[in-house]
Amino acid sequence: MSDKNKPVKPFLKWAGGKSQLLEQIQANFPAELKTGSIARYIEPFVGSGAVFFYVSQYYSIEEFFISDINPELIIAYKTIQKNVEELIENLSKIQEQYVCLDEEKRKEYFYQTRSEFNLLGKQIDAKLGEVREEWIKRTAQLIFLNRTCFNGLFRVNSKGEFNVPFGKYKNPKICDRDNLRAVSQVLQKTHIHHGDFTDCEKVVDKNSFVYFDPPYKPITKTSNFTSYSKDSFDDKEQLRLRDFFSLLDKKGAKLMLSNSDPRDNFFETAYERYRIERVKASRNINSNAQKRGKINELLIMNNYPTYK
Ligand SMILES: C[S@@+](CC[C@H](N)C(=O)[O-])C[C@H]1O[C@@H](n2cnc3c(N)ncnc32)[C@H](O)[C@@H]1O
Repeated sequence: MSDKNKPVKPFLKWAGGKSQLLEQIQANFPAELKTGSIARYIEPFVGSGAVFFYVSQYYSIEEFFISDINPELIIAYKTIQKNVEELIENLSKIQEQYVCLDEEKRKEYFYQTRSEFNLLGKQIDAKLGEVREEWIKRTAQLIFLNRTCFNGLFRVNSKGEFNVPFGKYKNPKICDRDNLRAVSQVLQKTHIHHGDFTDCEKVVDKNSFVYFDPPYKPITKTSNFTSYSKDSFDDKEQLRLRDFFSLLDKKGAKLMLSNSDPRDNFFETAYERYRIERVKASRNINSNAQKRGKINELLIMNNYPTYK
């Protein structure tokens, strides 16, 4: 367990990030997590990892497995795991250069970094295992863009290019050294994987707790935010995930899954054998500020005592 005096938090702001929902999520954690009989925590749609960091801090877990389909994220996690001091050096330089600029110059700096980031992305493959020198620069650029772009999000277009515009922040904290070091410490006992959510199957056993936070099923036709990566997550994908959930249930693993509440019975039908709870979440990825606010979200679990 990491030092409780230094709360570890996500180093990126991510669409669907779970920081606002941690209290309700932890209230529904399996009893085995609280009694210490879970040895492995697995999060196959890790995003910025709000739940992962929370669990790493408050429960004693022997090892962690995190994965995501987004290569930029995986590059960032692996860089922080292996090269956190070099990353801090790189980010501090960016911060020094950026904060003393006026708004016009900051805007120029932002768009220049964004172009470089997109250009470099075409030459990098996250699957290539080893951490490479250029990953440090790339992770620094990713964190910088995330801290200074509009709404602080990561979104890519169909070509896989980061396309969020400049955001006006007076004093953005670009380099949070203490948190990056704390994140790096947690990552020392974490296996970081780039790929599909089903890739974790081999590491899941009855002493595992798996938390799934897939892209939401859109509540309305126009509310879709699925651009974490080039690939979309449609109903067919939601059902493929349900099948995988059932498979892991049969292995005896403890499972939790969150999703939106489209109120069309889709999840009630798909997960009819499981426990479904509704919790209130604040969503902040809607670009129309008036449409933000409290909204129902589903938590689905396989620990309902009477379902078997
Ligand atoms: C709702 S977000 C997770 C948010 C995360 N819980 C957090 O706190 O930031 C969903 C994540 O699933 C990833 N994803 C989408 N399709 C995937 C797939 N087939 N396999 C694994 N990850 C996928 C996306 O890249 C995105 O990071």
